[in-house]
Amino acid sequence: MNAQRWAWAQIDLGALRHNVVTLAAHMAPQQLWAVVKADAYGHGAVECAQVALQSGAQGLCVALVQEGIALRRAGINAPILIMSEQPEEQFRDIISYGLIATLYNEATIVRFARTANELEIMALVHVKVDSGMHRVGVQPDNAVRVASLVAESPWLTLDGMFTHLATADVADTQFAQQQVSTFMRAVELVRALEIEVRHVHISNSASAIRRLDTGVACTMTRVGIAMYGIPGDAATNSFGGAHQLDLRPVMSVHARVSHAQRVTAGQGVSYGLKRPLDRDSTIATLPLGYADGVPRGIWENGAVLLHGARRAFAGVVTMDQIMVNCADDAVSVGDEAVLIGAQGSELITANEWANKLGTIGYEIVCGISARMPRNYIN
Ligand SMILES: Cc1ncc(COP(=O)(O)O)c(C=O)c1O
Repeated sequence: MNAQRWAWAQIDLGALRHNVVTLAAHMAPQQLWAVVKADAYGHGAVECAQVALQSGAQGLCVALVQEGIALRRAGINAPILIMSEQPEEQFRDIISYGLIATLYNEATIVRFARTANELEIMALVHVKVDSGMHRVGVQPDNAVRVASLVAESPWLTLDGMFTHLATADVADTQFAQQQVSTFMRAVELVRALEIEVRHVHISNSASAIRRLDTGVACTMTRVGIAMYGIPGDAATNSFGGAHQLDLRPVMSVHARVSHAQRVTAGQGVSYGLKRPLDRDSTIATLPLGYADGVPRGIWENGAVLLHGARRAFAGVVTMDQIMVNCADDAVSVGDEAVLIGAQGSELITANEWANKLGTIGYEIVCGISARMPRNYIN
């Protein structure tokens, strides 16, 4: 039982270890770099990074400088890649904390090199190529110029080039293949100038599992969601329909009944009294709500596991509490409910919520808020 609160997210580090070992074996000889941005998709960045590194990951990927600094302050010395350009005010931190920068604009590269020069520290850089997703990166026809600019700077090392696929999760792989060839052409043009590119990487989880970078000499993959045991495509609960690896969900969400009462037929429950009871029912209250990451919309057709059975929401999710309909069951204060995870023979996945809400499992786990304690088990 959690001593702090009667609602918590349980993080199964044994499942994470299993997933990393499984994924690393699947994608060998490429290195697995664990994507631990956004607090490891809500799972706890430091804890997950440590387990991933112990289980075979060779590096880490983050979105923000602050995320990289937090890992360094926790004593993590592994390579850490920040996956997009960051504000100039943060260049000093990137360099002095030994984080790997991603760069793609000529002006940014010049300023970044100047900062490295001022600090007299050699900085590692990966150049990101926009091969078709059009989020960030240098356009392929300017990639040689940008990579050369990095390689020619006495204060920068061109440690890698990478791209990101827009449709790695989509059954039709045609666009992904087009992106792979566009990117690899840019890498070959850079290498033709006898510029060394140590790391070449394309794949996220879906691409790594489906091996969309097969036949291309990639040295590493950037794996996020698969490591957390959540198939990337919520609709098919798969990675683009690819053959499934044995991956186990790492996060489950739990709460204890904080109040239980009989409510008579015809009464409504929660704001708006939206679903009047068709019979007398036991209503159990759980002390977590949308401020903890239970999306309000899940009340309509979602369920909660209590005593091993699926229970409908009795009314809308409130900020701090939810109410579930337990029919005639004897429910007591302190009984454990599972919102995401298994209880008895029933299972609710993050992707089940995602499908009901028209989103993806990523958003569900990232949305479990910092207010929810994380309980780590092995
Ligand atoms: C550039 C980049 N690479 C890799 C990943 C990891 O993706 P996934 O969680 O699908 O493995 C992300 C995540 O959004 C990303 O933005």
